[in-house]
Amino acid sequence: MNTYTKPKTIIVIFGATGDLAKRKLFPSIYQLFKKEQISEDFAVVGVARRPLTNEDFRQNVVSSVSEVAKETEGLENFSNHFYYHPFDVTNTASYQELNHLLSTLDETYNTEGNRIFYLAMAPEFFGTIAEHLKKEGLTKTKGYTRLVIEKPFGHNHPSAQQLNKQIRQAFKEDQIYRIDHYLGKEMVQNIEVIRFANAIFEPLWNNRFISNIQITSSETLGVEDRGGYYEKSGAIRDMVQNHMLQMVSLLAMEPPIKLTTEEIRSEKIKVLRALRPVDETNLDEYFVRGQYGPGTMNGENVKGYREENNVNPESITETYVAGKLMIDNFRWAGVPFYIRTGKRMTTKSTKIVVQFKDIPMNLYYKKGVNEPIQNPNLLVIHIQPDEGITLHLNVRKSGQETQTTPVKLDFSNNSIDGINTPEAYERLIYDCIRGDATNFTHWDEVSLSWNFVDPISAVWESQITTDFPNYPAGSMGPKAADDLLATNGDHWWAVSELEK
Ligand code: BG6
Repeated sequence: MNTYTKPKTIIVIFGATGDLAKRKLFPSIYQLFKKEQISEDFAVVGVARRPLTNEDFRQNVVSSVSEVAKETEGLENFSNHFYYHPFDVTNTASYQELNHLLSTLDETYNTEGNRIFYLAMAPEFFGTIAEHLKKEGLTKTKGYTRLVIEKPFGHNHPSAQQLNKQIRQAFKEDQIYRIDHYLGKEMVQNIEVIRFANAIFEPLWNNRFISNIQITSSETLGVEDRGGYYEKSGAIRDMVQNHMLQMVSLLAMEPPIKLTTEEIRSEKIKVLRALRPVDETNLDEYFVRGQYGPGTMNGENVKGYREENNVNPESITETYVAGKLMIDNFRWAGVPFYIRTGKRMTTKSTKIVVQFKDIPMNLYYKKGVNEPIQNPNLLVIHIQPDEGITLHLNVRKSGQETQTTPVKLDFSNNSIDGINTPEAYERLIYDCIRGDATNFTHWDEVSLSWNFVDPISAVWESQITTDFPNYPAGSMGPKAADDLLATNGDHWWAVSELEK
């Protein structure tokens, strides 16, 4: 497809009255419209149970965009492209009526039969909707039809496989866009560029020069109103199976032959295939789980996880995971990839630290220390809230011939304000409209990730006794996570040490 022509399409959002649509999708589509990345030839059809009129729906769109957008120029005109269709997921007639509406809009907006079906609703309906879309002829148009599907993609490997089978009956793999919103983040997309567009990193990017890689994605929020979902998910399914493993695969993959979707995905898949399996025989060596108890955050007392709404008071669901991943291939043999993520931690931050090995012999002293010790070189990729990269080097301490002092070479990307901002979605929606699936997850990636995670959750769910809660809200997680690294002689780099 010629990427210079502005795409024309109808986007059908299932779950259009939900939170995701309001907070992310409407504002993102608005940005694309404002930046003229999509043409005037577009329409959005909101689908949900509630009986709203087009006017009500447009009003919702205007108010959600106004809440997040700094300027709202052209918003009225933009909202006139939105239509609402009250809908019952299991009712055949609903699909037929929707099809009729889409055909009419196709003529009005000249969208050439292009349709995107965006499933932003409860995952139990994903399969049913996909099947009905095909059965009732909504996928039969003269243009393209694509399915965008939000997480969670299944609950484990068998359920993901079942869901995949259902949606594959209606859509081919290359029509399916599985969202992992981390892949839409600016600095996650930058990982490949940092690695493959700079001569200085790639030669060192292996087990000869890298000591370990750490990925921390910490959150300050608790589970909020998602207790029901989270109880069944826990941090391993909510964050590790998708976002964390995706970042690992981008950091560890071989350079693709070309920057095409297929080539990049195929390299990422190889990384996931090389992950050393973890199960009941070695779990304690590789993974630590945690659950937050009551604590203090910003001077305020906050509840423990077990006191949250819709959470079992004796819950053994983990709200924190730390892991040591080994990638058993030629490049990475022996290099631990440490990951950690959790709710109610000290700070909201996602950072990647690439720690280089010590130099063979250190001739210099660190300031104030008589022994020759060195600060390892670090490459820090700041994903959020700040965006950029920092390289930690050692330089001569002024006037001290044998002493060094650490310095940071810093690049700041134009930081976007706020966290989990619509920008990630904006990029992903745009990619989908243009037919670029690179930053979406292929079924093989989803499948391999579940295969890695399933044995871990199986063990945790079967061990009823835990020391939970084992970290207070407002801390960086349980002590066991420090021990996990200490056994290798490593330690977590604190966010404060990594600040620019
Ligand atoms: C989502 C998880 O996928 O990612 C949430 O379901 C989590 O529990 C969120 O809070 C984190 O995203 P971000 O972009 O704020 O780091």
